[in-house]
Amino acid sequence: MTLGKAVTKAVIPAAGLGTRFLPATKAMPKEMLPVVDRPAIQYVVEEAVRAGLEDILMITGRGKRALEDHFDREPGLERTLELKGDRDRLAMVREASELGPLHYVRQGEPKGLGHAVLRASQHVGDEPFAVLLGDDLIDEAEDLLTTMMEVQRRTGGSVIALIEVDPAQISAYGCADVTPVAGETYVRVNSLVEKPAAGEAPSNLAVIGRYVLHPSVFEVLEDTPPGRGGEIQLTDALQTLAAGEGEGSGVYGVVFKGRRYDTGDKLSYLKAVITIASERVEFGEELKIWLKGFIN
Ligand code: G1P
Repeated sequence: MTLGKAVTKAVIPAAGLGTRFLPATKAMPKEMLPVVDRPAIQYVVEEAVRAGLEDILMITGRGKRALEDHFDREPGLERTLELKGDRDRLAMVREASELGPLHYVRQGEPKGLGHAVLRASQHVGDEPFAVLLGDDLIDEAEDLLTTMMEVQRRTGGSVIALIEVDPAQISAYGCADVTPVAGETYVRVNSLVEKPAAGEAPSNLAVIGRYVLHPSVFEVLEDTPPGRGGEIQLTDALQTLAAGEGEGSGVYGVVFKGRRYDTGDKLSYLKAVITIASERVEFGEELKIWLKGFIN
């Protein structure tokens, strides 16, 4: 019986090719693109650790070695900084390697998000687990993941995060049809569809990249045929769980109203970098003054 088991593991799919950022990602993983002074992926790992998930599995692939290096110790660099007495930088360099045990498994073939998540089955075993996608950064002050873990514990199903989007944008996301649950802040997900055409979407509620999943999703993924774009879609597996009955079925949604930054394409990445930079105490105010002048 999985109901009530604590979530302790996070899975971070990071095998995507990053074609939207070529040529920057020709020789570098897209997850390493800097957001101010840390690679985007570090924000995601830090979010998982803040939520108490210190056992992290990253699904990587060919050309992703920089991810492992980033989260590993770098004794040569650390010694140089130590000799220089540069304690601040030394602390920042060490921070990334102190984020708890990171594990890695390669996806092997780029067969979609559902296929990537399925690669985590052996590591995760028979426990609910979190999935964090690197394109979505959630503001540090929000506790979305903790809320989702609580909903998972209470419902025993799987939990997705949703945001309201302009109906014209829904075709870039998974989309959910939901029903409110009396007396609760979460909703019940009736059905899900991956990247529907604007006119065919059941709602304007878009799936964002945070999930807390019941392990029965693995069995469902094994039997999920390729869907949208010829890829095995996590959304399709969740649709099966939403429509199913019995242990592990049932999908619930937490509608997120907080701050989220999208780093998924060039324009939204630039907006994310500027927003996050403008909030840094070291130079945020100066940046905002400069931006005003630049616009004028
Ligand atoms: C994936 C999911 C999609 C979700 C999105 C959130 O799509 O398949 O359902 O809405 O992440 O970022 P991708 O952006 O990887 O194409």
